[in-house]
Amino acid sequence: MMEFLTIQNVTKTFGHFVALDHINFSVNKKEFVCLLGPSGCGKTTLLRIIAGLEEPNIGSKIFLEGKEITTAPPSKRNFGIVFQSYALFPNLNAYQNIAYGLKNKKLPKKEIDERVREALSLIHLEHIKDRYPAQLSGGQQQRIALARALALSPSFLLLDEPLSALDAKVRLNLRMEIRKLQEKLGITTIMVTHDQEEALTMADKIVVMNNAQIEQIGTPQEIYEYPKTPFVADFIGTVNMLSKEGASMAIRPEQIQIAEVQSEHGIQTVVKDLEFRGAFYRLFLQLNEKVPYQTPDNLLVVDIPVQLVRKLHIQKGSILFAEMPQSHLVTYV
Ligand SMILES: Nc1ncnc2c1ncn2[C@@H]1O[C@H](COP(=O)(O)OP(=O)(O)O)[C@@H](O)[C@H]1O
Ligand SMILES: [Mg+2]
Repeated sequence: MMEFLTIQNVTKTFGHFVALDHINFSVNKKEFVCLLGPSGCGKTTLLRIIAGLEEPNIGSKIFLEGKEITTAPPSKRNFGIVFQSYALFPNLNAYQNIAYGLKNKKLPKKEIDERVREALSLIHLEHIKDRYPAQLSGGQQQRIALARALALSPSFLLLDEPLSALDAKVRLNLRMEIRKLQEKLGITTIMVTHDQEEALTMADKIVVMNNAQIEQIGTPQEIYEYPKTPFVADFIGTVNMLSKEGASMAIRPEQIQIAEVQSEHGIQTVVKDLEFRGAFYRLFLQLNEKVPYQTPDNLLVVDIPVQLVRKLHIQKGSILFAEMPQSHLVTYV
């Protein structure tokens, strides 16, 4: 696979504050990469550096298709960008907003018209081309912002939390729409998000960040199943953090096996609480002090199928044996 974008040793300080601390990763052509991490970890700063809107410290290097672009101005990097706030011009209608960048490039009128219509059809909003931003919903505005970025036929796309200002339903729809569009156009994309579900469902590759550093890089499956650090385990999905004889371990709620009867490795627990979650039940199992594993609150979170809860007549106070398969226990030193 070809390395399209290479981020090498990127550091950024604001005064004494370190916003990015030796960041290294690469993005392949046509790949969809998510920068995922809590607020303040440096995601936007990194995206702005990639765009050339912010200058990294000396020693940082960025390569685009093998050519160093660390100090190149934004106009020489050929990207499209979409921000969390839709950032449309309020005095221009949807059509004019999309045409804006094309006009700046002094393209012929006919070509501008063709490109705007094509962009509008990509996002299925031909019918609202004459509306002004104030007459559009949040989801529609964000799709116009996306069309505006794509109309310039950029060689890559940068998205900074493009969905986080939208309400839940719109967010889910647009999530799929963006991913489909990205695949259809084959456009290399970097999206910043603090939403782990968004990253898991959309990305080919996730770069998990915390405190100005990268914690882990991997596919959604790798990150979820084998979180390299306790931070990643805790930040992505639900996890049980266990300690056993001084070692610290993580296991996902759906990997724990439940039985009514004692087995070789089963540990005895009591059901403290259970929550119906629609597709499954979440059990909160109380560990007694004698078992070899401890959790911070001595509760084990276990997700099991609804049928199993019915079959075993599980309720508050039931005694259950929990088994933790070695293959799904991730150990930290
Ligand atoms: N221009 C700036 N001057 C000083 N500090 C900044 C500046 N831009 C960002 N920061 C700080 O850098 C850290 C990372 O910010 P940012 O990249 O926006 O985080 P994220 O996008 O992950 O929420 C934050 O603590 C923020 O306050
Ligand atoms: Mg940000």
